[in-house]
Amino acid sequence: MYSIKLYLCIAAICVFVFLEFPKFKGNEHRCGIEASGNLIHHNPWLVYLEYYVGDHQKEYRCSGTLISPRHVVTAAHCVRKIKFTRLAARLGDYDVSTEKDCVTGLCSDPNLSIQVSEIIVHPDYDGKEGDIAILKLDTDAPYTDFIRPICLPSNPIKGNVTLYATGWGEIPTIGMYSNIKKILPLPNWSLEQCHRVFENLPDKVLCAGGEEGVDTCRGDSGGTLALVKERVEFVGVTSTGCQRCGTKGYPAVYVSVYDYIDWISLVTKH
Ligand SMILES: *[C@@H]1O[C@H](CO)[C@@H](O)[C@H](O)[C@H]1NC(C)=O
Ligand SMILES: *[C@@H]1O[C@H](CO)[C@@H](O)[C@H](O)[C@H]1NC(C)=O
Ligand SMILES: *[C@@H]1O[C@H](CO)[C@@H](O)[C@H](O)[C@H]1NC(C)=O
Repeated sequence: MYSIKLYLCIAAICVFVFLEFPKFKGNEHRCGIEASGNLIHHNPWLVYLEYYVGDHQKEYRCSGTLISPRHVVTAAHCVRKIKFTRLAARLGDYDVSTEKDCVTGLCSDPNLSIQVSEIIVHPDYDGKEGDIAILKLDTDAPYTDFIRPICLPSNPIKGNVTLYATGWGEIPTIGMYSNIKKILPLPNWSLEQCHRVFENLPDKVLCAGGEEGVDTCRGDSGGTLALVKERVEFVGVTSTGCQRCGTKGYPAVYVSVYDYIDWISLVTKH
């Protein structure tokens, strides 16, 4: 009797361990959530990329998206078309012009920079197709209210939705880079409509925006395009757009994360 109880008990522990383990490993219940509605907490997965040449930090060019403690997704052109000797991922920043960031009395933890130890560019990248890359971090990113991964998309986008792009890039019409993490609500476009605007549209992309003055722009590349569901999902990587950002009738182009999900899963397994 006792041994059966013990056996059941061990079995229960095993079941518990097997059921619980993937949550810790794959962060299912920890991705895609924001700590509050305060702006300081929005998009805690957005990563500021620090480009170095030797010990000298160069100007800001691109951002990325945290998807696991060790992996950041960015655009391939952000790591292929820019010269640098090393790259670091700055996590948990909000206002890049101040050391201590506070919004309506709520202050973030100090930012955290982690070295990038490996850069994996999608094998299809040729300057146009496959503009996606994965950065492997040297150490695990801690998850806090200011640093958190986004969820990978569960389904392709359906219907008319509002997507949210984020970045520290140029503000259209003002022509200056944003110090604070921008959040841009953008309507989705169908690919059919988008093909009419861009004759040379790459495969496996999404188009969004096309509104006057609200658009991703220079410096937003590699950043997040998100869809808000019960949890926030990572639907696009900011890739390209027209030279004059924020022109009505011209959406911007985002690499469709859903179309690269098998490659992302494969790369992030190691
Ligand atoms: C980021 O944090 C470091 C200290 O870890 C600090 O020296 C630096 O000023 C911070 N940068 C910004 C832009 O907040
Ligand atoms: C989606 O939006 C387009 C134009 O913006 C409209 O013509 C269409 O009826 C909408 N579809 C749905 C399902 O709301
Ligand atoms: C995106 O928006 C357009 C309307 O502008 C709509 O017709 C289309 O079905 C939407 N969804 C997708 C997945 O393209």
